[in-house]
Formats: sequence, C-alpha cells, structure tokens
Amino acid sequence: MPATTDDAHTLTALRGDVISFRGDPFADGLDASMVVDRDALVCMRDGHILSVGPAAVGLPSLPEGTPVEHLSGALITAGFVDTHAHYPQLPIIGARGLPLLDWLERHTFPAEQAYANIDYAREMARLYFAENLGNGITTASVFCTVHPESVDALFEVSHALGLRTVAGKVLMDRHAPAALLDTAQSGYDQSRDLLERWHGRGRQRYAITPRFAVSSSPAQLEAAASLWREHPDCHVQSHLSENLQEVARVRQLFPQARDYLDVYDRHGLVGPRAIYAHGVHLEEREFARCHESDTALAHCPTSNLFLGSGLFDLASATRRDRPVRVGLGTDIGAGTSFSMLQTMDEAGKVSQLRGHALTAGHALYLATLGGARALHLDDRIGRVAPGMEADLVVLDLHSTPLMRARMTHVDTLDEALAVLMTLGDDRAVRATWVAGVKRHERERMPPAH
Ligand code: GUN
Ligand code: ZN
Repeated sequence: MPATTDDAHTLTALRGDVISFRGDPFADGLDASMVVDRDALVCMRDGHILSVGPAAVGLPSLPEGTPVEHLSGALITAGFVDTHAHYPQLPIIGARGLPLLDWLERHTFPAEQAYANIDYAREMARLYFAENLGNGITTASVFCTVHPESVDALFEVSHALGLRTVAGKVLMDRHAPAALLDTAQSGYDQSRDLLERWHGRGRQRYAITPRFAVSSSPAQLEAAASLWREHPDCHVQSHLSENLQEVARVRQLFPQARDYLDVYDRHGLVGPRAIYAHGVHLEEREFARCHESDTALAHCPTSNLFLGSGLFDLASATRRDRPVRVGLGTDIGAGTSFSMLQTMDEAGKVSQLRGHALTAGHALYLATLGGARALHLDDRIGRVAPGMEADLVVLDLHSTPLMRARMTHVDTLDEALAVLMTLGDDRAVRATWVAGVKRHERERMPPAH
C-alpha cells in the first residue's frame, strides 16, 4: 500500500478540490486568506509541490504516463501540524480523573521510565507515527523522555518515513523520580550530542526541551539557553501556565519572576522558534511579551478539558494589535485524540465557552498554516502551493454513513468543513502524503445504504 521512497522522484499528480491558506484569517479575515481551488491539479516531484492549478489546464500538458489520482468527494489540504505531543505517553491516554501535577506523578512519570529501553522506545515511536499518519499529521513537535535513547528512537523512525519532526530530550533535574532526573550539565551534554546528530538530518529538527519551570533548576534553564544561543536555528519547547496549582508552584520556586513567562524570559528561553504549550492562565503582559518576542503558543484543547486545566483564550492570543503565533496540539497523552479534526472541534467548543465562535476555516488554518507558522516552518510546510514540501492530506467528505447523510444538507464549503470537523476523525483521512509519497491510505468504506 504505501509507496516506496523512490516514487518521490517521479512526477505524480492529485486531482480534486484543494483548500489552503495564503494568509492568517485571524488577522485578515477568512475571505482574504483561505484559497479554494475547485477541480485542481496538484503536481509533485522530488518531495515538493511543483504546481497547483485548474485540472482542465494542467492535465493536457502532463507528460504521458504521469500517474494522476482523481479524488472525488474529498478535499486536499496541507498535512496537519501537531505543535505539541508526547509520544512516550501513548500508553497512558485516558488515565483520567486527576489534575496536572497529580497526573504527572501518578501516571506520567512511571510510564516515562520505560523509555530507557530503546527497543521499547522504537516500538512506541512506530505506533506513534502510524497513528499520526492515519490522522493526516505530517509534522509534529514532540517531547521524548529524559533518556537520549527515546530521542534516537523517535528520529530514526521519523527519518525512515521522511516525516518532518521537531523533537528533543526532556530536561528535568528536580521534582521528579530519581530515575528520570538528569543534571544541568548532563542534560546539556546529551542534548548537544543529540542535536548534532539529528538537527537538519533529512527533515529532522532538534528542540531543546526543558519540561517546565517546576522540574528544571535555574542552572538547567540557563544551560538550555546557552545551548540555544550556540545553536539558534534549533527550537525550544516547554509548558507554560497550564494549571493554577502549577502557576502557584512556579511563583514559589521563582519569586523574583514577574509571572510564569518571565521565568523562561529571564533565562533566555523566549524568542523565535520557542513554543510553549497551553498558556491557559496567561495575563495580558505575558501575551504581549509573547507577541513582542515572537514566542509561540500550542493550544491543546482536548488536554485542557481532560485534565480540567482551563479554557485557552484564543481570541486574546490572536488579538490583531498584538497577535501571538498559535498552533494546535494534540498533547497526547493528556490529550485524548490523535485526530486533528477532533482537536479543531474541541478548540471550537473551548472558544464558544469563552464567548467567541471559531469558524471551521479558522480552525483548519490553526491545524495547518497556523501550526507551521508557530514552528517557524511556514517557508516549507503548511500550504498547498508551489515550492512547498509535498505533505498533503486527503479528507473524505463521506467517510461514514452519517457524514454522507449530513453532507446532503450543506450548501457551502464552509458548512462542509464544519461538518467534517464535527463528525470527522481518522476515518475521514483517506490518504496522507509525506514529501510526495503516499504513506497512508484508508481502506474504502462500504457503500452507504
Ligand atoms: N507539564 C509538564 N509536563 C507535562 C506533560 O507531560 N503533560 C502536560 N499536559 N503538561 C505538562
Ligand atoms: Zn505537554
């Protein structure tokens, strides 16, 4: 079923309806930023998109024998970008009933200890990427564990699949079980080794990954920032202001800091290519500082609801006078779904509870170009446009009998998208293309009655 990597070198084309973004709908409105190409031809070669244009124009000029997949009842979009996930937490998805700090202690830290074993880590990494592909996720920003083996395992599997992955070794030198602790020095050394091995190898990118302010000493945060200064092209990822108990703990641990973001700021860990998950309890000063420093946020609605962390203020984050880069995160395993469609849906519900509607178009932007921008990778991914890497997802508008029936009542593409994100999940992902190679294809649904 999945094509071989050699296929990336031959010209391949998809024909169907394409939906993509040329700008940010939160800044410019949906009409100015969403691009819909009906019956388009997307041509790909050598891992990149060569052209996107009307099929009637493109088809006659294709060299004879070019494979063309004709997709009806489907939408072609850019591959989904998951801006925050923990692959080691796959075995604890659904461990419910506890707030963040208790959940970490009871479920997360015990589960992460198993990743000292690289064979186990490889097995979980394979499962993780299979799920991502089945859900149309072609780029993810991933936390590993404190063990370097967990990082090698993840990048090995990602590299073999040609996926673009941002990931790093978790740094934590306090307030966790001894088996999961490094030190400021060993964390720095191991991160530097991994970074030198993986950053820029194929599509792999390294993220310096202090878990959060609670579990890193000031010395460790400083060492992380030194490494970033030495390798400014790398990413930084961590957690920020997820839960009120956590915020209070950080205030106790760093009494000199003005607020939670200021802890990272004082240690040199904010700026372009830094992304912080959650930001549920941020104050205005922190949003303004994220904007000013070009620090991004990963909005993880299924996780925030599952742990009872709170409701992210997307409207405030995207305020036009000081917009913050925002992407969507599954936050597996506090998050409850690998489906970015479901994550979009939950983001819509959280927005609604905050008193703002989130249109399906805005949600799709967050899951594609918004995520790419949050990771500062929008020069390569996030859009269906010439020159972009050929990461695509084919979404099936009739993926279940219910969806097929519901779609007979929609009049516009926007309505169809809304139905897709409400009823859709991995069944709605017909195919996932990674750098011009089909890496996932769903078996055909039986015809509806
Ligand atoms: N804060 C620190 N570590 C974690 C984690 O693993 N998951 C979530 N959701 N929040 C965190
Ligand atoms: Zn997380």
